[in-house]
Amino acid sequence: MSHNTFGHLFRVTTWGESHGPAIGCVVDGCPPLISLTEVDLQPWLDRRKPGGSRFVTQRKESDTARILSGVFDDGAGPVTTGTPIAIQIENEDARSKDYGEIARAYRPGHADVTYQTKYGVRDHRGGGRSSARETASRVAAGAVARKVLGDEVVIRAGVVQLGPHRIAADAVDFDAVYDNPLFAASVEAVPAWEAYLDEVRKAGSSIGAVVALEVSGVPAGWGAPLYGKLDAELAAALMSINAVKGVEIGAGFGAAELSGEDNADEMRLGPDGQIEYLSNHAGGILGGISTGQTITARVAFKPTSSILAPRRTVTRDRTETDLRTKGRHDPCVALRGVPVVEAMAACVLADAMLRHRAQVG
Ligand SMILES: Cc1cc2nc3c(=O)[nH]c(=O)nc-3n(C[C@H](O)[C@H](O)[C@H](O)COP(=O)(O)O)c2cc1C
Repeated sequence: MSHNTFGHLFRVTTWGESHGPAIGCVVDGCPPLISLTEVDLQPWLDRRKPGGSRFVTQRKESDTARILSGVFDDGAGPVTTGTPIAIQIENEDARSKDYGEIARAYRPGHADVTYQTKYGVRDHRGGGRSSARETASRVAAGAVARKVLGDEVVIRAGVVQLGPHRIAADAVDFDAVYDNPLFAASVEAVPAWEAYLDEVRKAGSSIGAVVALEVSGVPAGWGAPLYGKLDAELAAALMSINAVKGVEIGAGFGAAELSGEDNADEMRLGPDGQIEYLSNHAGGILGGISTGQTITARVAFKPTSSILAPRRTVTRDRTETDLRTKGRHDPCVALRGVPVVEAMAACVLADAMLRHRAQVG
């Protein structure tokens, strides 16, 4: 299986399967002399880890990250050395017997059928490499990327739509996201969303959701025309997350309904002669290059395909059957997708920052 690596100067490779002994990542190209310990990684991993509430998979993983290489303490505390940073996270609670059925029958909406067709073999246990267990490695890499970016760049995401229930744009509050079990960007939304998701869960069903992303503190100039556009790289990274079916930057599909006048982010000069934009339909990126405004994106996650409700499918030996998927699954994958969205944005931006520095100093 090729293409387990992304990024250019800040380059991330992930490895491992859901029910193997461990998963992890190798971050290559991280600059030297950045202070880094496992303590920097763990808070981000804790946000994504399973088993935190009844609204996520009940698999119990501590997701404890261990740094195996690329960091050295020369007397002034552990710092990156510029060599590859290898991070390992052990799988502690794999229950492969729950997945016997999907060795035989393909889950509709999951990757079982395409992996088997392409490779002729697949580790079906817990979904193997197609399991979102892999996204823990992305979150670990994202934590390293955040250290590269520094505190100026603030990356935040949150669920803004759960099935048909939306949070109005002017009510979105990213500060609320990690204080509620639904990763909702509004505390007011939580009681109704909980009741709704309980119904979905008890019916053996699942539901999709939209995650909004907001990044402040990115200076003007990151990204490159034409084939290194920051929006294109961000969209590709977000789209690579399991179950993501749509990505919008700025006004996104809504821009198609706007007039040129309405869509134009008009400019004026600020007190020090700096450019000030009067709106941000572009989502902080023009011509593939950051404007210095907040970068905004929206990410659509499909509903979990592993559901108890029976669905029609076929088996590897070509018989038709109905499949009820057992095992431990997230009723709405977007919830734990929130820290993954943030991590992928961090990796793309760290890469863009280093490439910007390499070309224009
Ligand atoms: C955080 C997260 C958790 C997920 N948990 C599950 C799950 O419990 N069950 C499931 O069937 N899919 C889950 N998924 C989605 C699958 O991994 C994904 O649908 C599958 O790999 C097929 O890829 P695709 O949907 O991108 O085509 C999860 C996705 C994310 C981001």
